Amino acid sequence: MKVDVILGLQWGDEGKGKIVDVFTPRYDIIARFQGGPNAGHTIIFDGKKYVLHTIPSGIFHQKTQNVIGNGVIIDPFILFKEIDKLREAGMKPEENLLVSKRAHLILPTHRLLDAALESEKGNSKIGSTLKGIGPTYTDKYGRNGLRVGNITETDFRNRYELLRKEHLDTIDYHGFDYRQHLLDGLTFEAYEEKWFDSIERMKSLRIIDSEVFLNTSLDQGKSVLAEGAQGTMLDVDFGSYPYVTSSNTITAGVCSGLGLSPHRIGKIFGIFKAYCTRVGSGPFPTELNDSDGEKMRIGGNEFGSTTGRPRRCGWLDLPALKYSIMLNGVDSLIMMKADVLNPFTAIKICTDYSLDGEVLNNFPFDLCDEKLGLVYKEMKGWDGPLDGCSTVTDLPAALAEYVMFIENQVGLPVDIISIGPDRVQTLQR
Ligand code: GDP
Ligand code: IMO
Ligand code: MG
Repeated sequence: MKVDVILGLQWGDEGKGKIVDVFTPRYDIIARFQGGPNAGHTIIFDGKKYVLHTIPSGIFHQKTQNVIGNGVIIDPFILFKEIDKLREAGMKPEENLLVSKRAHLILPTHRLLDAALESEKGNSKIGSTLKGIGPTYTDKYGRNGLRVGNITETDFRNRYELLRKEHLDTIDYHGFDYRQHLLDGLTFEAYEEKWFDSIERMKSLRIIDSEVFLNTSLDQGKSVLAEGAQGTMLDVDFGSYPYVTSSNTITAGVCSGLGLSPHRIGKIFGIFKAYCTRVGSGPFPTELNDSDGEKMRIGGNEFGSTTGRPRRCGWLDLPALKYSIMLNGVDSLIMMKADVLNPFTAIKICTDYSLDGEVLNNFPFDLCDEKLGLVYKEMKGWDGPLDGCSTVTDLPAALAEYVMFIENQVGLPVDIISIGPDRVQTLQR
């Protein structure tokens, strides 16, 4: 068997959580391959809303195993907050959750470092979620990190203390007063205490060599779906650097983040919104700072699932979408949040970027370039609700045309159209 992949093609928050949950009954295993609690994946069914940060979005289906892969970074405190919320809702997430020994741990001081480094950046802030993502991946690649497999070792506490001291020295060097900085409403010391309680609880989880488990499962004919976090435009290599996250969010990340050979990759599903959003700083060519942008934000409830920050909104950006499709080798597209465009009488799509009046054939090196021009096509909106649509054939003609235009431009089919946040508001073609 091969591993299928679902990932975001824009700046995150495309609706990956919803679609992974919808797809889960078709798979034996769902595996997260990168990112950490910077992610916020929303799943809505039976009138209830759940937001997952570290746990894969297949957790609501008891028969499916959910793997937190080696490429993910874990804050044990946040992981157990999630687990406890699911337990309060009557679930038993520990029963179908597996954690890689090789996944790196986010220490409380990684979170402080994140805050210290961001506060120093002033106007050029990344707009990080402040979950410690950058500093933890820095320690991973700097070969200083602590991994889940280390928590049962006798020298774990010593290694922790050494790293903690190094981090606090750096924080002091930057003149950041970490004692005034709260982590999820807690002082550093209080957070650290709860973090260690969570480390103890972690020992009861199923901690495995996830790369062996996944390869063996595929050999045994089990089906696996890899769940991405963030989006392609936040990829550390190909996103709008430096306004990116610190991991490879693209298909290539599946191989390193789960220990699977490229030969194992099966179908690649790329998710995009019918428009664009971005949370945090950085270039966003089609951003709308007007009433249309506000209409999208309110209609789409575009407020961060992890931080609650208002998301920036803008028209669909085809040059960025095409670039993402190329990088990921997407086979099938999934378009989300079509319903958010319901109230628009006219809809714009950016078809090209230009520089000095010339249309660009290649995606630019620097999206921050102020001279970047945008070419738009205007299309008729459907200007009405989609409530009665239960199959794609029910969709208004203007929406069908919008989808067809995108398909023609990018050369791929849009196989699913999502018209609302609930599981059931998903139309498959
Ligand atoms: P993810 O990070 O890619 O999983 O996406 P998020 O959960 O952060 O953000 C997507 C948001 O859009 C969530 O609030 C979802 O409940 C919501 N959502 C998903 N699909 C649709 C849709 O088709 N229509 C509307 N209106 N909301 C949707
Ligand atoms: P999901 O999985 C949207 C953004 C942050 C910031 C930048 C770097 O829910 O789609 P980081 O905390 O990684 O150092 O932040 O990346 N960002 C996201 N934006 N969705 C996400 O995840 C994001 N994860 C990080 O806002 O601009
Ligand atoms: Mg999200």
